[in-house]
Amino acid sequence: MLTTNKKILAAADKGGYAVGAFNVNNLEIIQAVIETAVEEKSPVIIQTSEGAIEYAGMDYLLAMAKIAAKAPVPMSFHLDHGKDLKVIKRAIDAGYTSVMFDGSVLPYKENVAKTKQVVAWAKKKGVSVEAEIGAIKGVEDLVSVSEKQAFFTDPDEAARFTKATGCDALAISIGTAHGAFKSKTTPELDISRLKKIDALVKVPLVLHGASGVSPAMVERLKKHADVLQDGNRLSGAVGIPDEQIKAAIRNGIRKINIDSDLRLAFTAGVRETVVEDHKTIDPRKWLALSKSLMKETVRGKMRLFGSSGKA
Ligand code: G3H
Ligand code: 13P
Ligand code: ZN
Repeated sequence: MLTTNKKILAAADKGGYAVGAFNVNNLEIIQAVIETAVEEKSPVIIQTSEGAIEYAGMDYLLAMAKIAAKAPVPMSFHLDHGKDLKVIKRAIDAGYTSVMFDGSVLPYKENVAKTKQVVAWAKKKGVSVEAEIGAIKGVEDLVSVSEKQAFFTDPDEAARFTKATGCDALAISIGTAHGAFKSKTTPELDISRLKKIDALVKVPLVLHGASGVSPAMVERLKKHADVLQDGNRLSGAVGIPDEQIKAAIRNGIRKINIDSDLRLAFTAGVRETVVEDHKTIDPRKWLALSKSLMKETVRGKMRLFGSSGKA
């Protein structure tokens, strides 16, 4: 059933677990996420970036989300990293149940003013708002923050920002990064900073850039590297270890964004099918393995985050 991030995250806060927010771009990804949520009896957040909207169109994504929301688990449909106020307003009016305004690289005052504008639009329609303070490094199509622009969230500023804007959830920067190349060494989250933020900020906290970049999936992706002449594409790929995700949840993280892990699973499936089943001309066969690898990825996250069995 379709609900808001605010309701899903309030329940997570009470239960001490986190809910996965999965980036979707097409039918197969949406199906993989919602089918797994039903199998795991887990609440779920399905989110589209502005890049996904450019790719598939807001109307198509919304129509698919509405059908997915018929599933018997709480599901929210969220706009991820909204930067363009026109797109955000359109999403609120069209039926998204939650939107993010990402003003993380704007000057503080401008971030507050624009977030407040989004909150005003959203409140009228019962839509939840996620905002961001602190900037998370990494590059993913339209979401791009350079090493120089990135900075960790200041706990006092986070508290002031949340009060000033009236946002329902807050994305923070504590050492994660967007994309499959998060760091030169194993990333380490700043858990003591998270504890301080959690003590001062009353709304649920959100962790972006949280993919694990499983070595097993990276290996699977490299399986036919020789045939595809693409051996080194993922060398140096590194994600956030499961133990650090668990520590983040223990200390107040309630929404966890996952995109890169789905991209890896999707691509591993396509590459394997192209090499091992290349005679097929049935388009339905090209994405079947991708869908099942994405389902196993989503299942792993729901179990890791503690949301399985909570719907
Ligand atoms: O955080 C960003 C998301 O992973 C979306 O990336 O703009 O390439 O869709 P995208
Ligand atoms: P990953 O690149 O780690 O999957 O992060 C996705 C994300 O934060 C989407 O908003
Ligand atoms: Zn993000």
